[in-house]
Amino acid sequence: MFEAKVFINQREGGEYYLLGLRVSENLAKKFLPGQFLKIRVSSTLDPLFPRPFTIHAIEGSKLYLLYRVVGKGTQILSKILPEEELKILGPLGKPFPEIKEPYIICAGGAGIAGFGYLLQKTSHLPLKIFYGVRTKEELVRVNFYEKFHVSLTLVTEDGSYGTKGLVTEALEEELENKFKKYKPCLLACGPLPMLKSVLKVAKKYQLKTFLVLETFLACGTGFCRGCVIPLRKGGYTHLCIEGPTFLAEELDLERVFS
Ligand SMILES: Cc1cc2nc3c(=O)[nH]c(=O)nc-3n(C[C@H](O)[C@H](O)[C@H](O)COP(=O)(O)OP(=O)(O)OC[C@H]3O[C@@H](n4cnc5c(N)ncnc54)[C@H](O)[C@@H]3O)c2cc1C
Ligand code: FES
Repeated sequence: MFEAKVFINQREGGEYYLLGLRVSENLAKKFLPGQFLKIRVSSTLDPLFPRPFTIHAIEGSKLYLLYRVVGKGTQILSKILPEEELKILGPLGKPFPEIKEPYIICAGGAGIAGFGYLLQKTSHLPLKIFYGVRTKEELVRVNFYEKFHVSLTLVTEDGSYGTKGLVTEALEEELENKFKKYKPCLLACGPLPMLKSVLKVAKKYQLKTFLVLETFLACGTGFCRGCVIPLRKGGYTHLCIEGPTFLAEELDLERVFS
């Protein structure tokens, strides 16, 4: 557990906030893309568990998180002011796997957050990023993603900006048109229904797929078994230790999505 001083906590659009924490440069270097940390948002027992967030970006000793306000913990977090100190646990989990093939990122809502740091650190950029939200106010940090000169397809469900529809429909259209030219693997993060649709598309085109599962976590350190994920070969793995990114074919997907 370490303490970090907040230097920015600003609304980016919709219910999305950018939180900036100042830590030592040595500590910042320990975080790898795909890993996460847990923030204790209250000094009382409610909420009891620190809340998990993926690293969105790192600049020297500045560590950025991008989060969506969904409940009590994130509401409390959104009220934290610059200069306040937060208790943090991390780095936690495993980094994104090293993908050697061409790959496409598919992100829904807050699922985009962790890919920022991936773009900052990787020399093997994705072919494309599909980023979908409900409406244009929720498209956040687009300028930041554009800096990496990766093809970025913005998708809104209501058509208020970019391509209209679901992000997985845009992904499928891309594969339908370009699939014969290349066979990418997929790296997807977003709500479970979105991930389920990604898997349907992946199955249709037989694409290797990595899922970033940002589901429920309790202790975050392997003790409580509150985050177990059923495996296809039988048994379980811990999201907080072995995740949050998994090769889809290794999971018992029916039970993961039930
Ligand atoms: C490894 C990991 C990394 C994450 N990274 C990010 C990130 O970078 N940015 C971000 O915005 N969020 C991220 N999340 C999700 C974030 O941790 C939750 O949204 C947050 O803990 C909710 O806390 P809360 O107290 O505000 O909501 P709660 O009061 O706990 O819940 C409010 C509502 O949201 C639902 N909910 C809570 N947690 C989740 C969840 N994980 N997935 C779907 N629904 C949920 C509950 O069922 C409930 O309906 C991550 C989760 C994990 C496990
Ligand atoms: S959250 Fe407790 S074991 Fe993973």
